[in-house]
Amino acid sequence: MRKIVFVTGNNGKFSEARSILAAKNIELIQNSDGYPELQEDELEPIASFGAKWAAEKLQIPVMVDDSGLFINALNGFPGPYSAFVESKIGNKRVLKLMEDEDDRKSVFKSVIGYCEPGKEAVVFTGTVEGHISFEERGTGGFGYDPIFEYHGRTFAEMTDEEKNKLSHRRRALDKFFEWLPK
Ligand code: IMP
Repeated sequence: MRKIVFVTGNNGKFSEARSILAAKNIELIQNSDGYPELQEDELEPIASFGAKWAAEKLQIPVMVDDSGLFINALNGFPGPYSAFVESKIGNKRVLKLMEDEDDRKSVFKSVIGYCEPGKEAVVFTGTVEGHISFEERGTGGFGYDPIFEYHGRTFAEMTDEEKNKLSHRRRALDKFFEWLPK
């Protein structure tokens, strides 16, 4: 079984990626050392820089995942600042910002970065379109899952298996897997 080190301190991301890749015969190993996160408007350069930095530091091939929630009515906010916003204000206050908005459209995006020491990083982007709910619903998942609705149900109202079939992370990991030399 092929092994890949996933550099992330986020256990939600890790456990989803682990089950998605286990089905493809890849064993993920978590490394929580972290890496510097660039301040950029897009997730791709953040994932690319992080993967390159961690691969050179650890001297092994690594994978990272930079993700974010882009809300249409808020011009893409919190986007690349999703982790900061989640820790500072959380779902309830994001819903408060959306209180008077009829346009609930939103996109979840995950960018997988992969890098081997001495090489350039490669990135794979997955997106899923949904809506911001009016209240938090569900107990599954993590992060923004209770306020992100996909076809009437929030991600937190789905089982892990259901979310992993259609999530932004699944879509990015599928592209990564297709690219990986077999
Ligand atoms: P970063 O990728 O570490 O910069 O952080 C992304 C932010 O979005 C964190 O606050 C995560 O908890 C959140 N996030 C990423 N993926 C998901 C997801 O699949 N569901 C809910 N929240 C997510």
